[in-house]
Amino acid sequence: MTVRSTAGTPDLSSQDPDWWRQAVIYQVYPRSFVDADGDGLGDLRGITQRLTHLAALGVDALWLSPFYPSELADGGYDVDDYRDVDPRLGTLDDFDAMAAEAHRLGLKVIVDLVPNHTSHRHAWFRQALDEGPGSAARDRYVFREGRGEHGELPPTDWQSVFGGGAWQRVPDGQWYLHLFAPQQPDLNWENEQVRADFRTTLRFWCDRGVDGFRVDVAHALVKDLTEPLRDLGAPELSGEAALAEFAPGTHPFYDRDDVHEVYRDWRKIFDTYSPPRTAVAEAWVPGPRRVLYARPDELGQAFNFEYLQAGWDAAELRGVITGSLADARAAGASATWVLSNHDVVRHASRLVLPPDTDTDAWLLSGGRAPAVDEAAGLRRARAATLLMLALPGSAYVYQGEELGLPEVADLPTEVLQDPIWEQTGHVRKGRDGCRVPLPWTTDGPSYGFGAGAAWLPQPSGFGGYSVQAQDGVAGSTLELYRTALRLRRKLLDGESLTWSDDVPAGVLRFDRSATWRCVANLSGTTVDLPAGEVLLSSAPLDDGRLGPDTTVWLGL
Ligand code: GLC
Repeated sequence: MTVRSTAGTPDLSSQDPDWWRQAVIYQVYPRSFVDADGDGLGDLRGITQRLTHLAALGVDALWLSPFYPSELADGGYDVDDYRDVDPRLGTLDDFDAMAAEAHRLGLKVIVDLVPNHTSHRHAWFRQALDEGPGSAARDRYVFREGRGEHGELPPTDWQSVFGGGAWQRVPDGQWYLHLFAPQQPDLNWENEQVRADFRTTLRFWCDRGVDGFRVDVAHALVKDLTEPLRDLGAPELSGEAALAEFAPGTHPFYDRDDVHEVYRDWRKIFDTYSPPRTAVAEAWVPGPRRVLYARPDELGQAFNFEYLQAGWDAAELRGVITGSLADARAAGASATWVLSNHDVVRHASRLVLPPDTDTDAWLLSGGRAPAVDEAAGLRRARAATLLMLALPGSAYVYQGEELGLPEVADLPTEVLQDPIWEQTGHVRKGRDGCRVPLPWTTDGPSYGFGAGAAWLPQPSGFGGYSVQAQDGVAGSTLELYRTALRLRRKLLDGESLTWSDDVPAGVLRFDRSATWRCVANLSGTTVDLPAGEVLLSSAPLDDGRLGPDTTVWLGL
């Protein structure tokens, strides 16, 4: 177990309890951000060194994907110990130094919590294996006898998110549930020790000055474990996409009503701190049910994946935005917006793929079928970003999108690390293409990421996207983000949005308060601009008019 080092007095830069409602939060994928010790993996000291990049960008907070001890069977989402730091990434003292520097720079710190499953290397799971069937240690996980004459068949037909069955057999013949990789056994949230231990973990990080949590797979913790466990009947019913086929709350492992008790319990802990700690649910659940996780007596926010999944289509986006704002309002939460994260194809590539593209097949083709026009992708990504940053609520920005990074779709298969590649029998390449380490300089080994080669190879053109190549360069994507974030801070005034209907087809236009307006042209043609002073534009105007794939902010 871990020993606590002196955490020091947390110095929270802002005491405003609502700081998160319209915040911009930057996601750091620690192993791919900066490698200070030259071992090829990003680390905490690297993050501390480059927090000035985040401060200069103008974000309000950083969210760190897991940095806990881990075998990296799933990029760190397989946690050995929730209250320690992976020695390859640093120590708890390095974490404290990082958090202190972030707070000094006025940045809040959000950490990732992975409560659905541990790593199979976690002390609890090793104990469960040692102590055998019927032991109290096994009850912290979901162990069952198999079916068939000799228990050789899995207890149910449930499928893993990463491909293949969701049960793994152990040498004594029992099976355990893993909704993700076999190295990620699911916890049993009916077990009081599991609940108590996560309370301890929450307090551990809150006491170290952490300002909030991102809750991994928040909708899966509580399962229907009533005997006999039910089969689903078809493999696709194990996926969240099938939730619509079930009456709300009746899927055996996703979005069950009782999961909300867990978050109501956590909220009581968050509210013992000042300002109250915040949280955001990762819950791939349709809109009205998703925002239940964001209710004020629960987590406060839930990622809005409908927005991320929407195509580059004005009518579709308007529908999603209107629905998301209404859902959030009904739940008493603020809306959230995401275009990219560590699990999806980067939006500079995704938004120019034809709408019916099978992204797994596209990745398997090395990004060649269909070919993507990088310049067109970047133009669209910049327009999408200005649209997102004009919306009421908070925006989550993924590291590298401020550089306009495309997906690295042609990673050779021998370097792939995502468990999806092996678990699908080499049918899906997985998510490594959005996790390639950041380019900071135009050349040098790993483009300034570290002193040597990075854990995933960077493509040869990466230096052209680096911070060094864009810093201070008028019109660069980095400068566009910096200007947008600075302006947004000044312009924000309430959470209202009023659509204009009198617009050409394919154009979105809305007013934020009486002082600020956003117009996005998703049509293929150039359109006239309405009245207003141009504050910022995602691409140069065309003789005072708005070209295709361009968003503009207007002062009123
Ligand atoms: C979440 C994470 C993803 C991880 C999975 C299992 O979806 O974002 O990266 O693989 O949970 O923890």
